[in-house]
Amino acid sequence: MHDFDPGYAHEPYATLAHTYPGPETYPAKEFRVEWGPIFHRGRLDGTARVLVIGQDPAAHEAITRRILVGTAGRRFQGFLGKLGIDSSYVMVNTYLYSVYGQNAGNAHATDPAIAAYRHSWLDAVTAHNPIQAVIALGGLADTAVSTWRTTPSGATYTGAYQHILHPTYPDSAASSGTDPAQAMAKLLTNWNAALDALHGTVTPDTDRPLTHYGSTLAAADLGTIPEGDLPPGLPAWMRSDEAWAARQGTTPAEKRATILVQIPADQRPF
Ligand code: URA
Repeated sequence: MHDFDPGYAHEPYATLAHTYPGPETYPAKEFRVEWGPIFHRGRLDGTARVLVIGQDPAAHEAITRRILVGTAGRRFQGFLGKLGIDSSYVMVNTYLYSVYGQNAGNAHATDPAIAAYRHSWLDAVTAHNPIQAVIALGGLADTAVSTWRTTPSGATYTGAYQHILHPTYPDSAASSGTDPAQAMAKLLTNWNAALDALHGTVTPDTDRPLTHYGSTLAAADLGTIPEGDLPPGLPAWMRSDEAWAARQGTTPAEKRATILVQIPADQRPF
């Protein structure tokens, strides 16, 4: 028996999948609209207790058609596991499409049309699930949540809220000169504080004592993406802890148009 995510056949998600915005709302110069929108990951069956807001999809997500499945997703899956949340979550990104270029993410943080469609998702999820906690990954997600909370439906949300550092904060901080070990330690200290705030507030799927992160991210701190979070038939290596998708190209145009998918060596039959 294999588990899979059934997708968007039922309302209110069917209408959301029918009516997604395109390049009139997400300018193609600043978003990779040609890879299509990627909507969510997690439960759409009314059982989610945690709502997660990520940033934007990357290469792995473009292939699996679900968000937060690459490095960021596996790190954050580990965070949910520490809360005992193994399946009762739903994740939505700030942006439907992958951000292209340095400034696009910030430049469109409060675009009304982008926000309006995102609010439809947040309204649908909060109206149909007993959400106990909203977790924003990074600053753009925090802006997305605070913008939503100024709307009439967003204002009715009274559960817990945590804005935490984005799971790939250490990678971006290191690429702009911060010591990588210090950047990772900063992420984990920040996440430990959020775990303290949420453990006991959110009803777990599996009751487990809280174990904090150390100052480095251990292999055991990564979560595995559940089979039931991806469309039917996706191979197991797409949920493995190794990178298997990367943008490639010798010019910006070629790189934007190309994702190399390669089965990790230890996952091949021969
Ligand atoms: N992938 C996503 O889908 N969202 C993020 O925030 C990061 C990576």
